Amino acid sequence: MIGIGSDHGGFELKKELMEHLKERKIDYKDFGSYSKESCDYPVYARKVAQAVLNKDCELGILICGTGIGVSIAANKMRGIRAALCHDCFSAEATKAHNNANILAMGARVVGPGLALKIVDTFLDTPFSNDERHIRRINLIEE
Ligand code: RB5
Repeated sequence: MIGIGSDHGGFELKKELMEHLKERKIDYKDFGSYSKESCDYPVYARKVAQAVLNKDCELGILICGTGIGVSIAANKMRGIRAALCHDCFSAEATKAHNNANILAMGARVVGPGLALKIVDTFLDTPFSNDERHIRRINLIEE
């Protein structure tokens, strides 16, 4: 189960993301927002991050205008490793090396075509499980 959330800035891209996940037969839970009305990104970042921490969702995807606000907010929660990615190389590396559990993107930064490729890369790349990466992640969380 993938937890997804956005503010008004990411609302349209979240709709495209839901269509894409449906096509890929990937289950998701939409934590809002549920309209294009102006709203506060930390609310949705926290809901998705909490679902990941509870293990209700294995991964999260957060979208705001820049992706910056949602990533900052999510990363305040202990155990969350939210990666702001606007290219496929970073999406692959952050999953393989950082075992990122949330992908953050900015809908005003990337178009939907690239955004969905980034999502696919993030979802389809496993954590490397390399000892050195595990050690480094543990150092972040100490
Ligand atoms: C909302 O206008 C915008 O500030 C928000 O979507 C996000 O980019 C914040 O980081």
